[in-house]
Amino acid sequence: MVRLDAVTVVRDGALLLSDIHWSVADGERWVILGPNGAGKTTLLQVAAGRVFPTRGTVDLLGDRLGQRDVFDVRGRVGLTSSAVADILPASERVVDVVMTAAWNVVGRAGEKYSDVDLRRARDLLVQVGCRNLVERRYGTLSEGERKRVQIARALMTDPELLLLDEPAAGLDLGAREALLRRLTRLVADPLSPVTVIVSHHVEEIPPGITHALLLRAGRVVAAGPAGAVLTGPELSACFGIPLEVVAGGGRFAARMTPVFDAPAPTSTSA
Ligand SMILES: Nc1ncnc2c1ncn2[C@@H]1O[C@H](COP(=O)(O)OP(=O)(O)OP(=O)(O)O)[C@@H](O)[C@H]1O
Ligand SMILES: [Mg+2]
Repeated sequence: MVRLDAVTVVRDGALLLSDIHWSVADGERWVILGPNGAGKTTLLQVAAGRVFPTRGTVDLLGDRLGQRDVFDVRGRVGLTSSAVADILPASERVVDVVMTAAWNVVGRAGEKYSDVDLRRARDLLVQVGCRNLVERRYGTLSEGERKRVQIARALMTDPELLLLDEPAAGLDLGAREALLRRLTRLVADPLSPVTVIVSHHVEEIPPGITHALLLRAGRVVAAGPAGAVLTGPELSACFGIPLEVVAGGGRFAARMTPVFDAPAPTSTSA
């Protein structure tokens, strides 16, 4: 589905990604973790066919990037990111925010939508738990509700590849857990597209994620099956602090390894 070979991205003299080798196969569900500025969003944009590598090759959904009309490939990729979220019109009905993705536009204008489009947008909103929000103005939604609408929008074109950039960012505990429940269902469904989720926190990884990639300063620290990669030593190397990981029930939690002060020496008298 996605294959990056020796991909390097340089922008304005800065090295954003360095010699990345990464491949995602059909049926896999990936999480990408890494500190701020590690290159996660850049990597997702490369996988979406929206950023071209300075060096290396990208094969996306069977085509080599740069050799075919890139807009054709982009239409087969669903992407949520803060860049897209920022331009969704606040005054638009929620169902239209989702439906306009069928034409790859934001804001309803002169496009002709069919009943099939309308039904699909409604069904997707029900699927992400927004049945009651279909007719609401997008600008009136809470942050958690918006995140779910954005996922419905990304699914509108029935993409073969779904890329979610920090879907849980800015959510409170309840909203995060509600979103995770939806994402868990999404990744568990064999009919769902191949999914890649970018996150800062192992607590935001939905059960069912099969693979993980850890990024630090534009380089891959580790990549492979989730159980082998989401460990204390690997995450410590990625985030640059000593971390321990607790795994259970398909979920993960991480915290800094507690540092115990050595007990003060007791004085002994002769
Ligand atoms: N045009 C540019 N020129 C110089 N540096 C850039 C440019 N665009 C992005 N960068 C830098 O590239 C690095 C990677 O950015 P990216 O957005 O991919 O990181 P990220 O891992 O998604 O970070 P965050 O977790 O904060 O979202 C950042 O340090 C950013 O400042
Ligand atoms: Mg980012």
